[in-house]
Amino acid sequence: MKKTVYLLALTALVASCAPEKKPEMALLNAKDFEATVDGKEIELFTIKNNDIAAQVTNFGARIVSLFALDKDGEYQDVVWGYESIDAYLKATDKYSGPVVGRFGNRIGKGQFTLDGREYQLSINDGENHLHGGAGGFSTKIWDAKQLNDSTVTMSYFSADGEEGYPGNLTITLTYTATADCALKLTYSATTDQTTIINPTSHAYFNLNGTSDNAMEHTLMIAADSFTPTDKGLIPTGEIRSVAGTPLDFRAATTIGERIESDYEPIVFGGGYDHNWIFSKQSLEHPQVRLYSAKSGIEMIMYTDQPAVQFYSGNFMDGIDTGKRGDKHNYRTGVALEAQNYPDAPNHDNFPSSVLKIGETYTQTTIYKFSIRK
Ligand code: GLA
Repeated sequence: MKKTVYLLALTALVASCAPEKKPEMALLNAKDFEATVDGKEIELFTIKNNDIAAQVTNFGARIVSLFALDKDGEYQDVVWGYESIDAYLKATDKYSGPVVGRFGNRIGKGQFTLDGREYQLSINDGENHLHGGAGGFSTKIWDAKQLNDSTVTMSYFSADGEEGYPGNLTITLTYTATADCALKLTYSATTDQTTIINPTSHAYFNLNGTSDNAMEHTLMIAADSFTPTDKGLIPTGEIRSVAGTPLDFRAATTIGERIESDYEPIVFGGGYDHNWIFSKQSLEHPQVRLYSAKSGIEMIMYTDQPAVQFYSGNFMDGIDTGKRGDKHNYRTGVALEAQNYPDAPNHDNFPSSVLKIGETYTQTTIYKFSIRK
């Protein structure tokens, strides 16, 4: 008897994110994602493990839904998305949930030099290159395979010259729902010619469900410095301390508290849209903590990347209607993009984003959920 009680207590400890009852999850219908585009089949996959579930599609290797338990034992879908492939293809917002690349974030004027040769990438953001160009990874149909209940793997072959990038590049991304309530993203890539690479996931999070105000969430970013930019959001090359600025998130702070500041970088970004440099690059450290007191959900981001772009949804305009009629309004979702620094190929003092023949690019990023009451 004693043994049974002990075992039960132990089980409760191990499965600390498990609810007593099994609430409903508003899963989307896979049928609504069946389509053939450019001769390739689009699909929606569902992965689950204990109390985390995600739906992902091979259209842009994108996260469509992500379910985590709130403090009342209900599931909240904590990412923006659309309820059908038609809605994704029609949306004016192109960056809800996909992997962006080959180089996520911006490259000034789309230009860089590699091994003495100058390259010109496509231009799609003012005079700059953003998120791999208008035909970047987020627009492609990846080859996908569900490996088991909790794992889907996807890969994409990016031909030499695509959007101006050198080298045939093959990238693979595996999504895993893990037993400890996390969604894990593992990337790898190889090339047949020296190239540059910086893929990242562009999910918009709202821990209350997707159409609520996200500015009341608190945020912690374990970063002592950031990369100031020009008006076009291209880094100047300076690495500046966050101390005494509205970009200091070393202690958890409500996002909305300083977002209207007249500090020049905030004005340039129209809110938060900056690259924070982690104080210590390590997969073991909680690098970002996003928390909503309303739902009680906390998300911790772990990543082996050196930096994160935190973007507070400043360009969102509510034109698109998302899942379950949610309006993707101004600042109702926040992107936390684990990455190398923007414009890295043009700054010798930034970490290298160069990938050579025979090398393998890898990245691991984890979004882990828990409840704080
Ligand atoms: C990133 C950029 C933003 C914006 C979004 C997409 O987060 O930093 O400026 O382009 O992507 O809307």
